[in-house]
Amino acid sequence: MAQLWGGRFTKETDQLVYNFNASISFDKRFYAQDIRGSIAHVMMLARQGILTDIEKEKIIEGLEGILDDVEQGKLVISDKYEDIHSFVEATLIDRIGEPGKKLHTGRSRNDQVALDMKLYIRDEVHMLDNLVEEILLAILTIMEENVDTYMPGFTHLQKAQPITLAHHMGAYFEMFKRDHERLTDLYRRMNTCPLGSGALAGTTYPLDREYTARLLGFEGPTLNSMDGVSDRDYLLELLSSLSIIMMHLSRFSEEVIIWNSNEYQFVEIDDAYSTGSSIMPQKKNPDIAELVRGKTGRVYGALNALLTTMKGIPLAYNKDMQEDKEWAFDAIDTAKGCLTLFAGMLRSMQFNKARMKDSARHGFTNATDAADYLVNHGMPFRDAHGIVGQLVLTCIDKKIALDELPLEEYQKICPAFEKDIYDAISLETCVNKRITTGAPGRMAMEETLAMYKKYMEEY
Ligand code: ARG
Repeated sequence: MAQLWGGRFTKETDQLVYNFNASISFDKRFYAQDIRGSIAHVMMLARQGILTDIEKEKIIEGLEGILDDVEQGKLVISDKYEDIHSFVEATLIDRIGEPGKKLHTGRSRNDQVALDMKLYIRDEVHMLDNLVEEILLAILTIMEENVDTYMPGFTHLQKAQPITLAHHMGAYFEMFKRDHERLTDLYRRMNTCPLGSGALAGTTYPLDREYTARLLGFEGPTLNSMDGVSDRDYLLELLSSLSIIMMHLSRFSEEVIIWNSNEYQFVEIDDAYSTGSSIMPQKKNPDIAELVRGKTGRVYGALNALLTTMKGIPLAYNKDMQEDKEWAFDAIDTAKGCLTLFAGMLRSMQFNKARMKDSARHGFTNATDAADYLVNHGMPFRDAHGIVGQLVLTCIDKKIALDELPLEEYQKICPAFEKDIYDAISLETCVNKRITTGAPGRMAMEETLAMYKKYMEEY
């Protein structure tokens, strides 16, 4: 029976196994890093007398030729190779013959892939950090232009106290500032070179690992060859930093969506960053913000997937680790796309200042300040709280704001109120009296802005 279909079945199974095992479809994206790592390896081998200078030159010339040809589209990375390492090595041997066969001396694909991935991620961390910088700059511009743009601050999505748009934006500045610092921090920690770890136990060749590390811009070599080939902590740190970045973008998106709603109308998203409806002609939807909010799940997913993949892996390299790539690449691409689009949307967004101010005036956001007024006239805060509560009820009944209530009404409820109550509860006063560090008042905000500007200059 087996003979009836055995040959064909075996062949098909082999092909399936091969496909299942192969990583070229996704690891081809770090061909440049693979070649860069190989060039450094070969330079070190020659310096240590393991390769001759002629062999070194031939190999490097060959590798540079492959890099150029791939970059110019003259050489297509074919999926018939198992992974990018095999593709580069086989192409090199094809092109330069014998010396090419010496490229892999004192190296395993285990330390090679560990190196390639680190080189790739390092470049990506730089790019991500630049995009975070763009967001910070966009926020800073909005802050500088809106120190006196009053709006309600919310708790429980209920109007709470008046703040400014600069202050609200400043909260996001702090969040993305921490994101920048997390990226900087993980970069510093990951910046050690695994090349020379071999398969797991180093090699018997007299490699100079400090030299390759230096050539490739690392702080130094990794200090344990087992960990060198099997450490993926830096990816988990990156994915968790990206998850936090996405969480920040998602919260921000949620606010943009709310602020853009017909009820709020605090902002107008630029036409270029919104979309229409196929059926409802009046619609202008905040799709970009919604997609950013939605894509956050993908990045969290990547973090969870890699944490789960790593948790059961005994030392040292195991093939499970090949699963680090697609998730990491997808999360990085997603975060980069979201950061880019969000920055563009922010830069082009219009703020409806009159609408924001009006909203702050009509939500009793100055009620705390009215109570503080009585406290300043010697009343215990708890009593003042009760009196202002009654005033608010009266205003709700009359459908007016606290500053529209006539003085007689104030005095009916509490004779301590004088004419100066109106100034005490104006939006300007409510905001500008709050000048403790980190508060929205102009004096405090100007100090904060000076620090933020300096921060960006030193970024
Ligand atoms: N494609 C592999 C990976 O991404 C490369 C390392 C292969 N090593 C091995 N021992 N099979 O992890």
